[in-house]
Amino acid sequence: MIRKGFFSFLAMIIKQVSAEKILPLRRAILRPGYTLEESKFEGDVADSTFHFAGIKKDKIIAVCTLIKNNNPNFEFKNQYQLRGMAVAKTEQEKGLGKILFQKSLDFLKKNHFNFIWFNARKNAIDFYLKQNCKISGKEFDIPDVGPHLLMYKKLF
Ligand SMILES: CC(C)(COP(=O)(O)OP(=O)(O)OC[C@H]1O[C@@H](n2cnc3c(N)ncnc32)[C@H](O)[C@@H]1OP(=O)(O)O)[C@@H](O)C(=O)NCCC(=O)NCCS
Repeated sequence: MIRKGFFSFLAMIIKQVSAEKILPLRRAILRPGYTLEESKFEGDVADSTFHFAGIKKDKIIAVCTLIKNNNPNFEFKNQYQLRGMAVAKTEQEKGLGKILFQKSLDFLKKNHFNFIWFNARKNAIDFYLKQNCKISGKEFDIPDVGPHLLMYKKLF
């Protein structure tokens, strides 16, 4: 049987893009009600930051950002933080988030970075658990966004 979203998966290509390109989808999914300016992250334009987009028929349908940022809760040197992981509403639950996430990790591995962490929204925890990420500590609140858990994955 063909998996749900199989054709979306075939149609999506993943590219490294500029912060400017990913902002509209980041805002739409993760910052509704906020402006593009308010949807920017510190570090978005740093040389060490990488933005990845899933593109289907020239349209960006999935985005995520990797920011070089050490979290003192972890002992690893040269950690990356995953931020702004989002898939367009009509494309969710078709396997695209998983592919974008895995490709981003592959990119880090290729570049010899072995640790990623992120503040996961409570509603997305199970998605990350399915990608073999782990939870560290207790739930906490990010004002105006909601409950989160600190999660991480050791890449090699
Ligand atoms: C969370 C998100 C990035 C996942 O992307 P996606 O393309 O919808 O997820 P996928 O289809 O690749 O899902 C992979 C697996 O995780 C599961 N999954 C996806 N989202 C889930 C969720 N929110 N809760 C529980 N399971 C989820 C899928 O059912 C699938 O399971 P399977 O492998 O057993 O079939 C996307 O749904 C999204 O943008 N959500 C809104 C924004 C958000 O919360 N972003 C995360 C911020 S930390």
